Amino acid sequence: MPTKVILDVDTGTDDAVALMVAALSPDLDLVGATSVNGNTTIDNTTENTLRVFDWIGRPEVPVHRGCDRPLARTQAEQLNPARRIHGTLLDLPPASRGAALQPGHAVDWLIDTYLASDGDIVLCPVGPLTNVAMAIQKEPRILEAIPQIVIMGGAHDHGNSTPSAEFNIWLDPEAARIVVNCGRPIRMIPLDATHRALVSVDDAARLRALGTPAGEAAARFVLKRIDGYDATQPMPHRAGAAPVHDALAVCSIIDPSIVTTEFIPVDVEVNAELSVGRTVCDFRFRGGKPANVEFAIDADEPRFVAMLLEILGRTA
Ligand code: BDR
Ligand code: CA
Repeated sequence: MPTKVILDVDTGTDDAVALMVAALSPDLDLVGATSVNGNTTIDNTTENTLRVFDWIGRPEVPVHRGCDRPLARTQAEQLNPARRIHGTLLDLPPASRGAALQPGHAVDWLIDTYLASDGDIVLCPVGPLTNVAMAIQKEPRILEAIPQIVIMGGAHDHGNSTPSAEFNIWLDPEAARIVVNCGRPIRMIPLDATHRALVSVDDAARLRALGTPAGEAAARFVLKRIDGYDATQPMPHRAGAAPVHDALAVCSIIDPSIVTTEFIPVDVEVNAELSVGRTVCDFRFRGGKPANVEFAIDADEPRFVAMLLEILGRTA
């Protein structure tokens, strides 16, 4: 039986690859997608999500528009971010084959869907955690219906928005803190893992050679990501390759052994001047708190790339 999953996305280029993996993998049953402010504005992340489903021939996947700003933060960069690695609108045609925004706010749809479920839908947020935190705050009973939350976010060794914080957590640290401490099984796929599974220019050529809509789009997005990373945050000793963070999170639902994790106490810094948004990882259990997060510290690059090639070679 395929695993049911909901993706919560701030669709830029790596969210787009994650959505295509989730929509095309025979091992996953994509129940729907919810959009959130993050890589770009909510208008753009919603439109991008629709473009992806339309492009790969899955226009029937429900898309619900979510929160347009973080729970508490009001910096211009958090309210209207535009990042070099993603741009604003994806390089895909506007949705014309039927992908349509569903009525109803994403937070309410998450609540209704989980309350009506059999407790078997994995939640996979790969953007800022605003929608998920709002849903938990508004209807805490959904927690018992969520079997697992697989989050792309966080960083221990180094950040990307600041020296110590990863973007998804930094953009809405208050939301991340609520989700990380919600008491449900959580797996985090942080930069420590995603930077260990890079996709290269050669891999992009292989994706394009698949000859499928998903392969073509993934090749385009990977090359855009590589340009952005090489220009602004080159991978040490690996020019011509870039992480595709959110897709690794989805692949880890299909095959959890693609990442190596440690089960440790993790919390989110919300009050600091220098390290707001840091995922504070207690690898040595110094804080006296129980483990709450399976935190990924490594990933298997060859298997990740092989999964992308296998899944994105499929058509709907
Ligand atoms: C995360 O931030 C976003 O830019 C990406 O889509 C990914 O979810 C990586 O830090
Ligand atoms: Ca994302």
